[in-house]
Amino acid sequence: MKLTINGEEREIDAPGEMPLLWALRDVAGLKGTKFGCGIASCGACTVLVNGVPRRSCVAPLDSIEGEVTTIEGLVGADGELHPVQKAWAEGNVAQCGYCQSGQIISAVALLSEIPEPTDEDIDINMNNLCRCGTYPQIRTAIRQASAEMKSSTSSAAKTDKVEG
Ligand code: FES
Ligand code: FES
Repeated sequence: MKLTINGEEREIDAPGEMPLLWALRDVAGLKGTKFGCGIASCGACTVLVNGVPRRSCVAPLDSIEGEVTTIEGLVGADGELHPVQKAWAEGNVAQCGYCQSGQIISAVALLSEIPEPTDEDIDINMNNLCRCGTYPQIRTAIRQASAEMKSSTSSAAKTDKVEG
């Protein structure tokens, strides 16, 4: 079957009932998305499907319609790190790192839905598990990414105004 992954159309030779996570890691060779629980509980396997977070360990391939974005496909302006990845790196969020691609993908989804989330918004929407307890650092990084995305949006708007 054909699947659009990170902007590229890929031919995936796998049965339709195969979980998306298996196809991403073992067929498409994208190992950034992790296997944790396999029962939709931990969020380590989170990817975006049409911008919406999805637990890929329980998503059969034949249920996927649209564009899949994994951690490898996140890019910011000019091919740099996405602001969420940048905030994660600057805040030294990761400890063992195992849950972090799922956390970053979930944070990207949260900020596209709620650009300036409150602590409550973060607590409600960021329900991926982290055995290392990096929750406070995750919250700080989301706030930083939110501020950076807001300031780059307003400078882009100013440039448009000047050029327009
Ligand atoms: S591996 Fe998918 S939610 Fe845990
Ligand atoms: S950083 Fe280790 S599980 Fe989250």
